[in-house]
Amino acid sequence: MIDFFLHKPDNEFAPDNTTHILTHNDAYQFHRTLPGYAPTPCLNLHRLAEKYHTGQLFIKDESKRFHLEAFKALGASYAIHCILEQDGNIDTFCTATDGNHGRALAWASASAGKKSVVFVPDHTAVARIRAIEQEGAEVIRVDGNYDEACDRAAQSCSREGWQLVQDAARDGYEEIPALIMAGYLTQFRELEEELHLPGKPEVDIVFLQAGVGSFAASAIWYYLDRYGPDRPKIILVEPFEADGVLTSFRAGKRVVPDKSFKTMMAGLNCGIPSPGAWNIIRSGTDAVVSISDHFAAEAMQALYHPAGTDQPVTAGESGAAGLAGFMAVMAEEKLKPVRDLLRISPESRILFVNTEGATDPVNFRSIISKTA
Ligand SMILES: Cc1ncc(COP(=O)(O)O)c(C=O)c1O
Repeated sequence: MIDFFLHKPDNEFAPDNTTHILTHNDAYQFHRTLPGYAPTPCLNLHRLAEKYHTGQLFIKDESKRFHLEAFKALGASYAIHCILEQDGNIDTFCTATDGNHGRALAWASASAGKKSVVFVPDHTAVARIRAIEQEGAEVIRVDGNYDEACDRAAQSCSREGWQLVQDAARDGYEEIPALIMAGYLTQFRELEEELHLPGKPEVDIVFLQAGVGSFAASAIWYYLDRYGPDRPKIILVEPFEADGVLTSFRAGKRVVPDKSFKTMMAGLNCGIPSPGAWNIIRSGTDAVVSISDHFAAEAMQALYHPAGTDQPVTAGESGAAGLAGFMAVMAEEKLKPVRDLLRISPESRILFVNTEGATDPVNFRSIISKTA
């Protein structure tokens, strides 16, 4: 199953009460001081580009982010650092997660000598729960989906006096999600060392996967801030069964999609988009594509078993989703309007972010054991 929505963005967002956090952030400087910090690699997949008759396909590989296998470490670590600068007496940090953010929060809390409690939806893979526990968190499984886990985390924080560090905003809770988005900006700052030039992004199209939308919003904010109308075209990719951003675009406001929330792309299996992210996403998204799981599986296989001399990439279900969206756009008749918008040619330079590695190793092995 696939769907798409084309959008005409105005390339400007109305400043809100968290804009200063993104504008004045020094997350990149902060991350560079962390033990074990190294920029994640950006690979050029020449053979895959040839296959699609396009210029260059770049993939920034966040599976190599610290030992945590996902970009989420950038958001949680920066938010906790900023929170503790204001109040060093906080004892326990808490969040809800479908895996990666919770693992990152547990690691960042333990690194700061603090406790952590992490709520997970009932379908969360055992390996993901173990990985969070290994970083020192107490994990509580909620009988419900991601949005319900978020509600439980927020309620428990009010009751227990824990500090909520959630990557999705809600009314009256905007600053910390904005700090998390500011942390994600480090990925794009790192690209300035090898790809982006001042005044010239050197990529024409960026495919970004979306869950609550904070990751995509940080990228869009970065490109609009640096390049304004000369930014690359931005395509968001979501699971067909959890397409909160696409449905919200269609409705003209943030809504929960009437879908099954059955997808293996666990990191993207979210309902309503985060309000802080939505404001930014609206101003700089050119199209949204939603895809079923088999596209993600094909992208995982293509990355792990690359053609010719391309370097293999270990991409989890959500990590491969950006490339999966591109593969769907190139293959599916229904997505021709997106192809027409992007005008992909032998000169096009396209960027993806592999946002996670094999964070559910059982599912990962079962997928990559089948040939692309
Ligand atoms: C691997 C991965 N990619 C992408 C995302 C999407 O990020 P966001 O929820 O900010 O849209 C997530 C979120 O958990 C994730 O874990």
